[in-house]
Amino acid sequence: MIIAIDGPSGAGKSTVAKLLSKELGFEYIDTGAMYRALAYKAYKNNIDINKEEEISKMLETTEVDYYDNKIFLDGENVEELIRSEIISKASSKISAIRIVREKMVELQRKIAANKNVVMDGRDIGTKVFPNADYKFFITASLEERAKRRYEQLKSKGEAKYENILQDLKKRDENDSTRKFSPLIKAEDAILIDTTDMSIEDVVKSLVNIIGGNNVL
Ligand code: DC
Repeated sequence: MIIAIDGPSGAGKSTVAKLLSKELGFEYIDTGAMYRALAYKAYKNNIDINKEEEISKMLETTEVDYYDNKIFLDGENVEELIRSEIISKASSKISAIRIVREKMVELQRKIAANKNVVMDGRDIGTKVFPNADYKFFITASLEERAKRRYEQLKSKGEAKYENILQDLKKRDENDSTRKFSPLIKAEDAILIDTTDMSIEDVVKSLVNIIGGNNVL
């Protein structure tokens, strides 16, 4: 069974998806982490994201995997290294490249084969698994998403609300207007606006929808 969760950056998708997967006893797959891992490798090796041949060469010699709620790049757990703002921006750019998407979509389908999974991303319900058993589109207002991100980063002392808001706006724009698999709600996805909801309430409502269909 496949549960697809899509939506813009900072809407709480991964937190919700992780909790939901625990609740259902399903595997969780964070597809954003895969694009982040590639962005991290390109950044670390000074690979020019704008040069398709360089990216193509990198893809040929790169192994990405996701299991136990962790992302592996060439065999190394890079979960802690891929969450910075620099990598956020770079991953938005690298994920717009066609050959990158083709390789990642193929990998995502392979990883989920014959398993029960909750998979989160931007194109899971539209492109990766258009026949997913459940599709949710989780969103929140731009201001609320920026506020949540600000609260997360405040303790690290590197946060400015206005910068976060502008960065999110730019990533929304990149992710929604790119040519290949832009972020868009699948027609048959259930829209959940979490602006005024707690994470617990969001998870509860998803469990109710799935359980209400006697799946659990
Ligand atoms: O969900 P995230 O912020 O970790 O995703 C990082 C970037 O990867 C984001 O800019 C959008 C992109 N992405 C994508 O294009 N398709 C996906 N399925 C998942 C993420």
